[in-house]
Amino acid sequence: MKDFEIFHDIEEFDNESKYLIHKAKEATHHAYAPYSKFQVGAALILEDGTLVTGSNQENASYPLCVCAERIALYNAATQHPNKRIMKMAVVAHRKNHKELSPATSCGACRQVMSEFEERQNKPIEVIMLTSKNEWIKCASAQSLLPFVFKRNNLHE
Ligand code: THU
Repeated sequence: MKDFEIFHDIEEFDNESKYLIHKAKEATHHAYAPYSKFQVGAALILEDGTLVTGSNQENASYPLCVCAERIALYNAATQHPNKRIMKMAVVAHRKNHKELSPATSCGACRQVMSEFEERQNKPIEVIMLTSKNEWIKCASAQSLLPFVFKRNNLHE
């Protein structure tokens, strides 16, 4: 599989990916984003079809805000610790806006996704909307973060 695939319309995705995008959109409604007013949702599908979602959660102490992607990943690790994560979709919109905003995961989330891949020794596909208004499906989180800092860097 190529590192990245580009789609111009949600309809071009397979049914599972469309479902994940839909669930990520639903998750945006549980975001707590009174400061940025940028509501993000992430949806993961696990190897047995289990769905896990997350939304960004902000705090008056700004550095404590946590992205939707990490909430979803840590939910999965806690609730379904032995199940492989297959795919993740991330979507965002401004509060009270219907149209989606581009949201390509931040570096911190890419770092965390990457370690999840390392833990499960299998890639996680990632679907996101870019600033060109194109959907991309990335074959793995590591393709989103070359030269990632890894746990074995600590032991060499
Ligand atoms: N945010 C996410 O949840 N995921 C991203 O991929 C980018 C940013 C959140 C963090 C913060 O609550 C708000 O969006 C604005 O940065």
